[in-house]
This record gives sequence, structure tokens and C-alpha cells, in this order.
Amino acid sequence: MAQQHPPAAANANANAPSLLDLTIDNITPNTIRINSQSPDARLTYVMARLVTHLHDFARETRLSTDEWMAAIGFLIGCGKICTDVRNEFILLSDVLGLSLLVDSINHPKPEGSTEGSVLGPFHTHDAPILANGASMTSDPEGEPMLALCTVKDTQGNPVAGVHVDIWETDSSGHYDVQHADRDAPSERCVMVSDEEGRFWFRGIKPVSYPIPHDGPVGKLLQMLKRHCWRPAHVHFMFGKEGWDKLVTALYLRGDPYAESDAVFGVKQSLVVDLEKVDKATAEKYGVAEGSWLLRQDFVLTTQHETEKLRDKLATEALQKLGLNLKLVDHLPVPDLD
Ligand code: BEZ
Ligand code: FE
Repeated sequence: MAQQHPPAAANANANAPSLLDLTIDNITPNTIRINSQSPDARLTYVMARLVTHLHDFARETRLSTDEWMAAIGFLIGCGKICTDVRNEFILLSDVLGLSLLVDSINHPKPEGSTEGSVLGPFHTHDAPILANGASMTSDPEGEPMLALCTVKDTQGNPVAGVHVDIWETDSSGHYDVQHADRDAPSERCVMVSDEEGRFWFRGIKPVSYPIPHDGPVGKLLQMLKRHCWRPAHVHFMFGKEGWDKLVTALYLRGDPYAESDAVFGVKQSLVVDLEKVDKATAEKYGVAEGSWLLRQDFVLTTQHETEKLRDKLATEALQKLGLNLKLVDHLPVPDLD
């Protein structure tokens, strides 16, 4: 059967460029023009910037065919190793610093609020909602740790009813999903803050661990003479309607990898000192005296607070770029008015 030609092939669109005799110097504007036929201004803008940077990258590095093929092979390798519980592309984004950058752009933090950190690939949606005080650990080798936390707003008022996802590795440095025989969630739970903004749970003292490094991303780190370790941490993710979603983690002071995290997640405001549980606290919470104690007061921002700050920072950044842009739905697009 004869192939149906799309209208663009016949240059039905009068604005479509003629794609003949393209060169190092004119391939970029022509690619941008042919990509600019959608009514979606944001798609057009994002694609134009992507093509500009990709083409400049090739021109600036005089990218060799072998290097380009190696890069494509690398991406194919990333795809092949992905499973339901292994996402090599998130890992790649993490080790390139892109995850932290995107989070920082999208969730700027007003003074005094809790900073964000990388989500990583090990959050799951099957963690059980546990009552305050419950244990989320099933690891007998782990060093028991009681966590006493609060969630407040930027004015210091408690925020009740916040869903807090919490996850950490076991004492061997593996998340539950990394164990082939996982039959139920472990070392993870969801807590809900009470009327005074409190939530408390029992886990284990976190340990440092290597990110998955048996795939293309691990090989890349090796070639770059980088290590693959993350400092000991516990992940937290806070969600409540009307509040900016906070993805963060707490890191233990003194960890040997605190200043060289493979995925750039550590911020000084997120580094904590563990205490030891005293007699009164042990009796109150039903844990052993002398076990580890983590105390943390988290500060959330409203969606409105974050949006306002994000728009302000975006406007300033665009002015610095000197491009003629405006914000539509809080995202930059060319200002053609
Ligand atoms: C993690 O902390 O779970 C993590 C983050 C980024 C890459 C790999 C693991
Ligand atoms: Fe982690």
C-alpha cells in the first residue's frame, strides 16, 4: 500500500523552512523552525532551548562520531538495566547534579523553611500508614533509633494531618526493594502529623551505602574517578493539600561521605547530631534507654509562598539571561506581545 505523506512533507505550512543543504552553521535555526509549529508555546520553547544547547555542545566539543555512538550506547545500556525497581535514568540525573538542580528551581525555600534533597530511586507507594510511635524496622541487626519530629509552618504554627513518607536502608545499606526476596515493605512507612504537628517513629540508625553501581552509571563514575557512596541518611517526603511538597533527607554529622555525596544531596541545614535516649524518654516512648534519638523540627511552606518565590526567582533569572520572555502558568515562554 502506498505511504500516506503528512502535510508537512509537502510543505503545506508556509512557515516551514526548506530543509536543504543544511550546514554546521544553519542546522540549529532550521531545526528550531521546523519544531516551532505546535500551538503549545512551552513545548516549542523547551525544544528550541534543548536543540540550541545540544547543537552548541556538539560544536564546542567537536563531538566525534565514536563519542556520539558511545553516548547512544550508554543510553541504551541505561534503558536495558531498568526494571520496576531499578531506574538508571534517575540515577544518571542524580550523579549529573540535574535532580538537585530541578528540585532547587521548583521548590525554592523561603528563609527558615526546611531545605529539600534528592528523592532518589527508592521511594515506593506501598509503605504502610503507621500510628505514631510504631516501628518501621524489621532489621534485628540495625541499631535502634527513636525519631521525635514536628511539622510547622513558617510562622511556627503546627501543621496537622501531613502525610510523611519515611524510608531508609537496612543495616547492610540496602533498601527493601533491592532484596530479590522482598515480600513486604520494610524500613519504610507513612506517618501522619497529629494536632500539635508531631510525628514519631522507631527505625534504625542510618548507615552510608553505595548507590547501585553495577550498571552504566557506575561505570561512568569509575571513569570519572568518582566514588559511588552516599552518606548515612533517612528520607522524608511531606504532602498535604495546599502545601508545597517537601522531599528531603536528614544526614548524620561526621559521616565520611558528608562532603562528597555521589548525588549532591547534602545541605548543612539537613545535617543532624544524634542523641541518646534518656531514662524519662525511654519510659515515655517505650524504647530502650541509651538507644539513638533523632530530633527534628521540619518547616513547610504553603504552595502560595513557594509559587511567589519561584516566580520572583524565575523573573530575575530570565532578566539576567537577557531573553524576551514572560511567565505563563509560572513557566517561561517567549514574550511575543
Ligand atoms: C537514595 O538516597 O536513595 C539515592 C539517591 C540517589 C541515587 C541513588 C540512591
Ligand atoms: Fe537513600
